[in-house]
Amino acid sequence: MDKIKIGIVGSRFAAMLHAESYKRCIYAEIKSVSAIDNLNEFADEYKIPKRYEDYHEMFEKEDINLVSVCVPNFLHKDVVVAAAETGKDIICEKPLATSIADAEKMVNVCKKNKVKLMYAEDWIFAPALTRAKQICKEGAVGEVLYIKAKETHSGSHSVYAQKKEYCGGGSMIHLGIHPIGFLPWFVGEEIIEVVSMKSGGEEKNLLHKNYSGEDWAASLVTFENGIRGFVEGNYITCGGMDDIIEIYGTNGNLHIDLTKGSPISVYSRKGYGYAVEKADFTYGWTKPAVDEIQSLGYFNEISHFVDCVRNNTEPKEGTRGEDGLKALAVVSAIYESAETGKLVKVKDIIQ
Ligand SMILES: NC(=O)c1ccc[n+]([C@@H]2O[C@H](COP(=O)([O-])OP(=O)(O)OC[C@H]3O[C@@H](n4cnc5c(N)ncnc54)[C@H](O)[C@@H]3O)[C@@H](O)[C@H]2O)c1
Repeated sequence: MDKIKIGIVGSRFAAMLHAESYKRCIYAEIKSVSAIDNLNEFADEYKIPKRYEDYHEMFEKEDINLVSVCVPNFLHKDVVVAAAETGKDIICEKPLATSIADAEKMVNVCKKNKVKLMYAEDWIFAPALTRAKQICKEGAVGEVLYIKAKETHSGSHSVYAQKKEYCGGGSMIHLGIHPIGFLPWFVGEEIIEVVSMKSGGEEKNLLHKNYSGEDWAASLVTFENGIRGFVEGNYITCGGMDDIIEIYGTNGNLHIDLTKGSPISVYSRKGYGYAVEKADFTYGWTKPAVDEIQSLGYFNEISHFVDCVRNNTEPKEGTRGEDGLKALAVVSAIYESAETGKLVKVKDIIQ
């Protein structure tokens, strides 16, 4: 069968994660890229033949099957709508959008144009997390009672992520969206209500006074069947990205260190190239990631989505456009709760 022809929109961090994953995928070929900066550098690096500054032009001219949407959050809706209207299947980065109205529009336009909208929640494909789910399903920890999950680091490299108007919020929508998207898939239940707190942006932030979105947010959540959860996203964590998931059951518990659980320990006086995402130096003792494209789920995610397009099958639960919309509804409920100081029911945000 022919390879699936890919067009990437974006040329920086997320685009690199997608391109590295496509490179390992035998049934995918990156045909074109569109971006407003770093275009030739990115295209040269991944040997992408066609380059466009305008993604509309790329969608019109190029014979591509699948589009990777790797632009700042506020642009997801426009790029997804344009791709859907030209008949392309789509992988959209997290969060699905910056507002519920945009996310609903994206889901509806893709349905109307009969194209796939696949939501790139990489945690659902991370080998450690799929293994943990299997262990829980076998009953190893008994009945799950409580789950804690967080993604935190020292601040986003992307200027768009630092501004609420482009990002849709701060650390919760940008980082906390991972546990929020992952947990319903893990426990097989939706989050129904939340009680939350967050820092207030700019001067009211804990650390990043130049970020208009919050730099710290946390929420207690309840699932349909009564399981309790705690999710967090913050930008006040030094030493590299920290993704921790803890599961407490009636007969045991389980702890996953997704980002710093490397089997390699290095002590270096001089330092070296790279240890883990967002770590600022590599001197002294470090635990370098072996292969983040694999361990954080990116390769499994992209190859699953390529398979969905090749075989015309639906993406797995947790990674459909509708799942991205649900995750965004939980984030919106968390923001409302943090602002009002009240418990918020997710069904009041989205039916
Ligand atoms: N799943 C993950 O782990 C993960 C990690 C990082 C980022 N992301 C997501 O990926 C998306 C991009 O993040 P990033 O860190 O790469 O951002 P970035 O700020 O580093 O890069 C933004 C990219 O968008 C391009 N762009 C901006 N406006 C454009 C336009 N009008 N047309 C075409 N291209 C345009 C820029 O050229 C640039 O390549 C965000 O939604 C972010 O949340 C996901």
